[in-house]
Amino acid sequence: MADRDELKRAAAARALDFVEDGMVLGLGTGTTAAFFVDQLADRVARGLRVVCIPTSERTAAQARRLGIPLASFAEHRKIDLAIDGADEVERTTLDLIKGRGGALLREKIVAAASRQFVVIVDDDKLVDRLGTTGPLPVEIVQFGWQATAARLEELGARSELRRAASGEAFVTDGGIADPAETEGRINSIVGVVENGLFVGRSSAVVASSQHGIEVLAPIGTAPR
Ligand code: 5RP
Repeated sequence: MADRDELKRAAAARALDFVEDGMVLGLGTGTTAAFFVDQLADRVARGLRVVCIPTSERTAAQARRLGIPLASFAEHRKIDLAIDGADEVERTTLDLIKGRGGALLREKIVAAASRQFVVIVDDDKLVDRLGTTGPLPVEIVQFGWQATAARLEELGARSELRRAASGEAFVTDGGIADPAETEGRINSIVGVVENGLFVGRSSAVVASSQHGIEVLAPIGTAPR
């Protein structure tokens, strides 16, 4: 039986098939994305030429340590391919919840600038409906956060200020019925910076399980 890290590593390895010489890559954040960065570093050491835009200081530090060339949006306005993990993937739509690792804003900017956005997960992350295994992260500005949280509650959610590891997180019961509408309604509240719903952004989801690897594509496109 493969353990969870082995599954994450396997999904990351499969995602390397999407990488081509000369690409500008977006590097995600989280434990699964970190496995991808490790394996990408091996390819770079063997001659692969890529430049990478990281989605967090954590990922930037890892890439720098492993000798992966880094770049920024100052040099590249578009990214050829971004590879990132996710907290939940809705099986039918490939819509995502991201950001429980705390990097959703940069991750969403990178995803939005990417021609291809490939998501790497183990099959525990696949859900029938988003919002059923944990909270939806919403990044808000510090000033007036209590008022912003109250506006979020008017949407029918219960909000909880995210705390350090010891803090309790609230899990909604019924899931998110309309992720696209919810994404827009949350972001229209003054004081909200961004939320962790990634709707219609996945080009492919690489999902690993005890039975092997599946590459899921959005309806109407063929998996690679
Ligand atoms: C960070 C993220 C991560 O991709 C997500 O939390 C998954 O992390 P992991 O691969 O460690 O399970 O969105 O903001």
